[in-house]
Amino acid sequence: MTVREALAETERRLAAAGIETPRVDAEWLLAHVLGVSRTDIHTHDEVDITALEPLVERRVRREPLAYVLGEWGFRRLTLKTDHRALVPRPETEIVVERALVLIRDDREPRVLDLGVGSGAIALAIADEHPGARVTGVDTSEDALALARENAEHLGLGVELRRGGVETTAEGWDLVVANPPYVPTEALRRLQPELSWEPRDALVDTGLHEQLVRVARTRWLVVEVSDGQADHVAAAFGNEGYGDIRITEDLTGRERVVEGRRV
Ligand SMILES: C[S@@+](CC[C@H](N)C(=O)[O-])C[C@H]1O[C@@H](n2cnc3c(N)ncnc32)[C@H](O)[C@@H]1O
Repeated sequence: MTVREALAETERRLAAAGIETPRVDAEWLLAHVLGVSRTDIHTHDEVDITALEPLVERRVRREPLAYVLGEWGFRRLTLKTDHRALVPRPETEIVVERALVLIRDDREPRVLDLGVGSGAIALAIADEHPGARVTGVDTSEDALALARENAEHLGLGVELRRGGVETTAEGWDLVVANPPYVPTEALRRLQPELSWEPRDALVDTGLHEQLVRVARTRWLVVEVSDGQADHVAAAFGNEGYGDIRITEDLTGRERVVEGRRV
């Protein structure tokens, strides 16, 4: 089939499946099959429809694009992505941004990423602050396995082990986390793509508050849901943190809270 026809047909099917960005997704899928960047798909005339079809089918069933492609960009890295861990989100890049600012004058800061998932935050910090001694923990063995594959593939030295909130009490220069923050009752109302992601990565279990109480760290940086920042910032204040700051994401929503243990 010609690239032009395949693109139009894929866009039509994705739109019919209720996908909000059918054109962009169609371009990603074709680019993947052709082995080129999205902007270069028109340098090809034909596309192998037998290779494209299973990917389109998966996306029509609302499997996240990052799982269908098997990889996803996060800051300077390309991470392997699959059902074992949450798809890294753009707002989480702001968490890394703030973390890097806070440790920029430390040569070898001890950094803990609680709930490491695919390894996105931990690996990006190790990549962008080469002196940092980064540990990532998760309660999910599946997520840890994926994070290890990413660390190995990228050649980044990060310690990865099973652990929960108690690891934040070990004593760190920086604890960073993107804890699950979707209320159970909201899960069904949200995009169907979320049902493909691990439930333990999504459902709010009050980890933010536990973390604020238990962590022994100079700096704490956490991602929050839209509307949760004031509540979490107040918890920082109640625990005696100073230099509390809320940072917005690129769409102007308050998504990151940080503070310094005083
Ligand atoms: C929202 S995901 C974040 C994944 C990754 N850090 C990212 O930003 O893409 C939350 C992660 O925390 C893990 N998790 C949930 N509860 C946890 C707990 N009590 N202790 C440690 N990890 C936990 C989940 O398995 C999941 O991998």
